[in-house]
Amino acid sequence: MPTLTENNQLGGQELRRVVYTEDQIRARVAAMGRDISEAFTADDRLLVLGLLKGSLLFVADLVRAIDLPLHVDFLLASSYGEEKVSSGELRLLYTPEASFQDRAVVVVEDIVDSGNTLKRLLPDLDARNPSSLDVCTLLHKRLVEMEPEPRWVGFDAPNEFLVGYGLDYAEDFRHLPYIASL
Ligand code: IMP
Ligand code: MG
Repeated sequence: MPTLTENNQLGGQELRRVVYTEDQIRARVAAMGRDISEAFTADDRLLVLGLLKGSLLFVADLVRAIDLPLHVDFLLASSYGEEKVSSGELRLLYTPEASFQDRAVVVVEDIVDSGNTLKRLLPDLDARNPSSLDVCTLLHKRLVEMEPEPRWVGFDAPNEFLVGYGLDYAEDFRHLPYIASL
């Protein structure tokens, strides 16, 4: 398992500190899975829609913690590139063919930062007429108020650049089983 070495070097980049450990993430994701399981029934025909690539590990763990029949799909939107600040631009590179009709759609995000990704994305998804549309995010920096706020939030995150458990900096660090600040 990749760990912080003595001088916090990993792949040449310095990681400041571990913000959420593997155990903390595991416990929180299990609880979120239970909450989502209680919010829906099999009749809701849940569609869990992960936003790639950041939500990849979260979705993989979350769906295993949901005790309902469900489908999993992904959306691919353009990311920050090599910047640590949002470019404000969003390109949808892949969206599922699957119909949202008569399905409860839960969009899964890794982190809400400026909120721009969700603000741009949600109207498009809503236009596809799911029976309900909710957001589940692992992390929320609480820099902005969302309307509506994500229904499920894993952790209120510090305003630092975070990597690991799916979150990247220029594609590095996604595979870390914990979340650290850069
Ligand atoms: P927003 O549109 O500014 O809310 O940011 C959404 C996306 O930016 C997230 O899905 C992440 O992919 C990326 N992002 C925002 N903050 C961070 C961070 O602290 N670390 C890594 N990626 C981030
Ligand atoms: Mg990203």
